[in-house]
Amino acid sequence: MIDLRKLAEAGSIEETLLERIDLARLPRHIAVIMDGNGRWAKSRNLPRVEGHRSGIASVREIVETSARLELGVITLYAFSVENWKRPRYEVATLMMLLKEYLRKELATLMSNNIRFVPIGRIDGLDPSVQRELRYAEAETSKNTGLLFQIALNYGGRAEIIDTVNRIMQLLREKEMGDAVIDEDFFSNHLYTASVEDPDLLIRTSGELRVSNFLLWQIAYAEIHVTKTLWPDFRKRHLFEAIIDFQSRDRRFGGVDESDKEMFVENQA
Ligand code: FPP
Repeated sequence: MIDLRKLAEAGSIEETLLERIDLARLPRHIAVIMDGNGRWAKSRNLPRVEGHRSGIASVREIVETSARLELGVITLYAFSVENWKRPRYEVATLMMLLKEYLRKELATLMSNNIRFVPIGRIDGLDPSVQRELRYAEAETSKNTGLLFQIALNYGGRAEIIDTVNRIMQLLREKEMGDAVIDEDFFSNHLYTASVEDPDLLIRTSGELRVSNFLLWQIAYAEIHVTKTLWPDFRKRHLFEAIIDFQSRDRRFGGVDESDKEMFVENQA
């Protein structure tokens, strides 16, 4: 049962927004491109890494709110395969913040029954980061609530290539070189195997790009772009994104029920 009192204070903007949400039609999986940390810092004459540091508070609030809304999955894009091109100090700070986050937040993840899973080329991260990730993953593995996926050293194209190679290896081992694979089989060998595709993709800071994020999985996701920069993104912005999502007409390539009836009537 969703506890509304834990989601919004009486009389707050959040409560007004929450009242507009149909709790029976929540997205099951929300994916987020957390963008704008650098601009947030620049506008305050701060070093870029301060934007990342402030972004952690947004991560904390959005993950906790997603658990309270009883969503199935939240996937956050924290570090892409392209992000290695950033200055060494920025990369090192991001990794340090990640380790700090995991150490500090593990207790909260546990108390909120959240299962934590990193996705991406995890083997390419520093061994100290891998250790923290594996520890948090193992500790939370029996939790049954929200699945919190964090994309690290992640690229959508890299994931597709890794999946192709994994499937080829599998088929070689089983001596099934002439097997024909289908979409379900392919999906079940992605990093996100067995996780439902995102219904809603949120991008902060106003850019209209998907930036190599979950390229296969977002095929039918609704996209919500907000100008809000990630360090300013709070519960109320998540509620606005969900309201926007619920206003969309999702047809998955088909037609509306009402249009179907019209077609039958026209045929008759
Ligand atoms: C994009 O902003 C953001 C990132 C590359 C990193 C996101 C990381 C965090 C929010 C903190 C670490 C996460 C966890 C879970 C501990 P940008 O730097 O590209 O911003 P800009 O486009 O304004 O320069």
